[in-house]
Amino acid sequence: MKIIVTGGAGFIGANFMNQMVPAFPEHQFVNLDKLTYAANLGSLRGIDTLPNYALRRADITDMDAVDAVFEEFDPDLVVHFAAESHVDRSILGPREFVRTNIEGTFNLLEACRKRWSGDDNRLFQHVSTDEVYGSLGDTGLFEESTAYDPSSPYSASKAASDHIVRAYHRTYGLPIKITNCSNNYGPMQFPEKLVPLMILNAVERKPLPIYGAGLNVRDWLYVQDHCEAIWTVIEKGQVGRTYNIGGNNEMQNIKVVDTLCEIVAEETGTDPGEILALKHFVTDRPGHDLRYAVDATRIREECGWEPKETFDTGIRKTVQWYLSNQDWVGSVRSGEYLKWIDLNYGDRTG
Ligand code: NAD
Ligand code: TYD
Repeated sequence: MKIIVTGGAGFIGANFMNQMVPAFPEHQFVNLDKLTYAANLGSLRGIDTLPNYALRRADITDMDAVDAVFEEFDPDLVVHFAAESHVDRSILGPREFVRTNIEGTFNLLEACRKRWSGDDNRLFQHVSTDEVYGSLGDTGLFEESTAYDPSSPYSASKAASDHIVRAYHRTYGLPIKITNCSNNYGPMQFPEKLVPLMILNAVERKPLPIYGAGLNVRDWLYVQDHCEAIWTVIEKGQVGRTYNIGGNNEMQNIKVVDTLCEIVAEETGTDPGEILALKHFVTDRPGHDLRYAVDATRIREECGWEPKETFDTGIRKTVQWYLSNQDWVGSVRSGEYLKWIDLNYGDRTG
């Protein structure tokens, strides 16, 4: 197969590339990525010289640029990760989210529709989030039939992208599958998201900003389990169908932060009390969803996928990865990212 992976230099996309490119030498992988602040080519070191890997820097909001990559590679499969992905950024600046997540997805669908006939064996695999379903109360789980009710500009833009992907299937017969996944953690995640931010701040003895009372719940999934789930859906899922992916690991933010503090202390030979004392409660995120939890029965029963990592095993691997990859950390935090953080997060980190 010829496979275009959009956003293959971001967190999940790079983990996907690192798993799949060496595992499938018979497939050609093309990384179509704009290389925004969230991308890091260092995440692809080791696989970027393999003969079945290529990079094309392109912005999915630019139809001509998308067409050029499709003309060059004529993909059998598109795995669509590229997105603006951080809720806090979407609150501060929603425009890029609408452009990349909605218009960018639309451009990719058009590129497929123009080239693919209904009867060939192609697939558009759309990677989405459980945040499209909105917020749960204390009980219940998101099912594939749960009505969409997004809260943030990020989740609303992803919801819109899911709808347009589904519409292309119903209207034009475009072969698509959608996955809606819970919060990922693991190596190579940009340190603006909860887990890597807390690890690095703890190591550097900076405050650990916890929004509100820290009682919000997320269902944590190790990134490599997510990548395997996507590949399983590509191979075994039904065309036109949605699959929820979750880690079966519901946890309040405060518990995640406490666990991270303890593991960082253990791994660095520090007194845990010194790191736990860095916890710092800050103004809550506007529109902050209380609880996400996923019912992943469909992917388990139809495709045979289950997560391999528990939170305990995955989170320790993650801490160890950040501790031993300081060069990666330095490169993603340089330049534009630091300027942006200073401008927008100065008040939050105290
Ligand atoms: P990320 O922010 O780490 O990476 C996004 C990648 O997309 C980067 O490489 C970036 O350069 C690229 N990109 C952004 N705008 C682009 C554009 N206009 N054109 C081309 N490339 C562009 O994101 P991530 O955490 O790896 O998430 C990947 C996908 O998975 C997203 O669609 C996200 O909505 C979804 N998702 C993420 C999570 C999570 O917990 N991180 C959970 C569920 C679903
Ligand atoms: P985040 O990693 O931004 O993912 P998402 O908003 O997509 O779930 O945040 C995870 C949870 O952690 C969310 O409830 C917000 C909270 N949070 C903090 O308390 N402090 C922080 O500094 C960050 C980035 C997030």
